[in-house]
Amino acid sequence: MCGIIGYVGTEPVAPLLFAGLKRLEYRGYDSAGIAVLEEGWMTLFRRKGKVEELEGEVPQQLTSRIGIGHTRWATHGPPTENNAHPHLDCQGKIAVIHNGIIENFLDLKERLIAAGHRFRSQTDTEALAHLIEEKNDGDLLAAVAATVAEAKGAFALAVLSEDDPGRIIVARRGSPLVLGKGAHGTFACSDLPAIAGWASHVLFLADGELAELTEQGFRVFDHAGNEIDRPTQPVGIDPVSIQRGGYKHFMLKEIHEQPRSIGETLREKIEAERSVIDLPSLEGVEQSFDRVYLVACGTAYHSGLVAEYLWERILSVPVQAVIASEFRLREMRITPRTLVIAVSQSGETLDTLMAVRRAKEKGATVIALVNSLNSAIERESDGAVYTRAGIEIGVAATKTFTSQLAALALLGLFLAEKGDEIDAPRLAEELDALALLPGQIAQLLASEEEIVLLAERFHNASDCLFLARGSLYPIALEGALKLKEISYIHAEGYPAGEMKHGPIALIDAQMPVVVLLSHHIAYDKVMANIQEVKARNGIIIALTDRPDDPALTGLADHIFALPFAHQISLPILYTVPLQLLAYHIAVFRGTDVDQPRNLAKTVTVE
Ligand code: AGP
Repeated sequence: MCGIIGYVGTEPVAPLLFAGLKRLEYRGYDSAGIAVLEEGWMTLFRRKGKVEELEGEVPQQLTSRIGIGHTRWATHGPPTENNAHPHLDCQGKIAVIHNGIIENFLDLKERLIAAGHRFRSQTDTEALAHLIEEKNDGDLLAAVAATVAEAKGAFALAVLSEDDPGRIIVARRGSPLVLGKGAHGTFACSDLPAIAGWASHVLFLADGELAELTEQGFRVFDHAGNEIDRPTQPVGIDPVSIQRGGYKHFMLKEIHEQPRSIGETLREKIEAERSVIDLPSLEGVEQSFDRVYLVACGTAYHSGLVAEYLWERILSVPVQAVIASEFRLREMRITPRTLVIAVSQSGETLDTLMAVRRAKEKGATVIALVNSLNSAIERESDGAVYTRAGIEIGVAATKTFTSQLAALALLGLFLAEKGDEIDAPRLAEELDALALLPGQIAQLLASEEEIVLLAERFHNASDCLFLARGSLYPIALEGALKLKEISYIHAEGYPAGEMKHGPIALIDAQMPVVVLLSHHIAYDKVMANIQEVKARNGIIIALTDRPDDPALTGLADHIFALPFAHQISLPILYTVPLQLLAYHIAVFRGTDVDQPRNLAKTVTVE
């Protein structure tokens, strides 16, 4: 979704804004713009398309040292230069950039037009620029505060005014906003990577707060205009982690980081002797309940589905994964004895946040399972469990997904242990199995060339089916989602036993069918499903821990070998070759792997 950056300091602003916007490109966008005060004049550059193209149009000799920049992911009005941010007031003196949605913008717009304001775009954001103009009697901070008070919805915004040339005003409600201070000035951004390496200390603005940025630093205010003293914290992101480090794409780098990211995720939560799970972040959180929901979207929902399969082996209460945007609409049974786990890489996904709020309203206990620290979902939950995957830049989730699976596997064992539902030997056995994962994944990554050959053969397919059963079924869904997202090939994941109830009609000699088979999960039945595909001339690509089974070698067109592993590890292990397959197919097709069309990394609209 949209990205925000603002800077005021001693350095020329334009190069910093463009560098920051490029670091935010992974969030997904379709147009970009900056506003700077050049020799005191409000100066705007905007265009549809890439930040790099915009940068090429901006004169090199700009001297301004204050400005704001934005990448837009269209919601109100198509991606055009006119709809790109920043937006100006009638006099062209006040510039506004904004993430999120102003829900009452039509009412505001009508009122402002009646009062004589002239609108130039179809965006909701422009209403803010005119409203600030209306309310500005010389105190920009007060005008922004009064505007925010009238606006409905979730948003983060940054405002620059020609009449107030030394400061930027920012405000947040719902959408994230981070303030940073470095040796050469002061920053605001929607996402920490934008300012990593430039700011040494940061502050995550809380909902309802506003801030004033000057060359010297920032001051934070509550909605009533009272200054608040809030401590800053070190940035905590290594600038190296936001570089590709020799890989062609961030996605490939992140796939290869998985031995480490899984290792970190597990190490933090398992005590040295490996038979005790330690989750201090859940201290004080109610751990007795009569049902569990896992709410999430997209890839994170697939993690929830895997947990549903893994947890029902060891917990006696019902466990259900629910798509977050459906959770709010349904009459789910939620009581103070319900545990809700909100799974989210970003911790900012609005659908998931709304599900959290719904659960809290009904008195449920909510645990956030997140990768980004200090997110809205974490703040609104009763406790948090972290995936330690490090920052993920590729829009397609890879290492954060497998870290979610690892963290959820542990969380399930932790809850079972607390409820006396698992004995010590079994717990130790499952933990031992998880500890093998980093090495097993490294071994799978070493077979990447085999996947490259498969990708070369199938990159022109127009459809693809992924079949599996049990805890591998969500991995079939994830394999299909990954392929769709980055290669734009139509793909579907199905429980293998369900194929004969419909999707079998799609199978012909052109259809690659990826089947995930394990000796742990209904092996013979999945073999029977493979027979059904073969009988209709489908092309079988089998991922299996029984690669030498003669019955399989006689049927499959391609076999990729998986290690013979414990059941708890299967979902993570089978994910890795599917990530590589999607990646290499996309590379052969020449798509924009790290920033696939129409997608955003953090989805902050409902
Ligand atoms: C994953 O590849 C997708 N980009 C998407 O489905 C994502 O998982 C979903 O939007 C949820 O995001 P979250 O984990 O940040 O909540």
